[in-house]
Amino acid sequence: MSEPTPDAILQLGLGFWASKTLLSAVELGLFSGLAETGPQTAEQLGARHGLHPRARRDFLDALVALGLLGRDATGHYANTPATAAFLDRAQPGYVGGLLEMANARLYPFWGRLTEALRSGAPQNEARDGGPDPFAAIYADPAGLEGFLRGMTGVSRPVAQAIAAAFPWGAHRSVADIGCAQGSFLVELLTAHPQLTGIGFDLPPVRPVFERFAAEHRLADRLRFAPGSFFDDPLPAAEVLVMGHILHDWDLPTKRMLIDKAHAALQAGGALLVYDAMIDDDRRANAFGLLMSLNMLIETPGGFDYTGADCAAWLREAGFRDVRVERLSPTHAMAVGVK
Ligand SMILES: C[S@@+](CC[C@H](N)C(=O)[O-])C[C@H]1O[C@@H](n2cnc3c(N)ncnc32)[C@H](O)[C@@H]1O
Repeated sequence: MSEPTPDAILQLGLGFWASKTLLSAVELGLFSGLAETGPQTAEQLGARHGLHPRARRDFLDALVALGLLGRDATGHYANTPATAAFLDRAQPGYVGGLLEMANARLYPFWGRLTEALRSGAPQNEARDGGPDPFAAIYADPAGLEGFLRGMTGVSRPVAQAIAAAFPWGAHRSVADIGCAQGSFLVELLTAHPQLTGIGFDLPPVRPVFERFAAEHRLADRLRFAPGSFFDDPLPAAEVLVMGHILHDWDLPTKRMLIDKAHAALQAGGALLVYDAMIDDDRRANAFGLLMSLNMLIETPGGFDYTGADCAAWLREAGFRDVRVERLSPTHAMAVGVK
């Protein structure tokens, strides 16, 4: 056995240095700018993005050292293949919406984690507000759009996995409950041309959803149904999907939503729940556990849960043939049939 060293502890403890460097680069539009211009010198990038001469070399070279930019022998900086594909706003694979949201919202809110751990109370826009965190986030139109775009960054890869993992060939209609911008339905309907989709979400989400559906030329197979899952019936479809929905709410609300889905489905219909489900032993999926702490910061009662927890809730609501399938190291889906 070798002696323990403090290296990993210190690297984790100062991990926010690297994290914030990336978030600021996204905020400044650095990667999208480089995609437009091609390789640039530090002076050119400094002029374009408003970087102080004192800051720019260290900032750009730190991004090189973090593997997020390349620099050639002539001192020109360029995107890497990964930042060109995923951090250029003009690319379909752009995940920067999530990072923009993380920079604008989560980063400052996580600064109050200790307070959340002590009080159990949210630390976001709803810190001084009522029980519905979405009312506070959506009070500002820029906040609404930023949040919805952010969800697309987390959910697009999960949607691609679910498009392949579920037997969609046996179904013709799907409704995504709490659909946000609509990225799940866009990925799914693109992969399965026989499907039509309904996005159900709060009324202010409508224009953002409809613009996204039109951009992806799916307006004829995809429609928005405005409503609240607290006050309105869920739309009718063969498959109902709840992605990153149950984790927002306390246990009685989770159960109410599962019951409501059961009531809305015809016999043979299915409910598909996906989330950053924690491994049943609660020791491996650090992302799922940290997501649950993120729910502590974002919501009054939300928490993430294991696949076994979710399977039990579905069975108790009357679903049969319940199964949990891991989609990636971070995400799993639970499926139950009525
Ligand atoms: C965490 S996001 C998940 C979005 C999307 N399903 C995904 O996984 O990317 C939660 C969504 O639930 C929606 N939502 C919140 N309260 C709602 C309500 N009362 N009725 C319908 N949708 C609601 C929000 O507007 C938001 O789009």
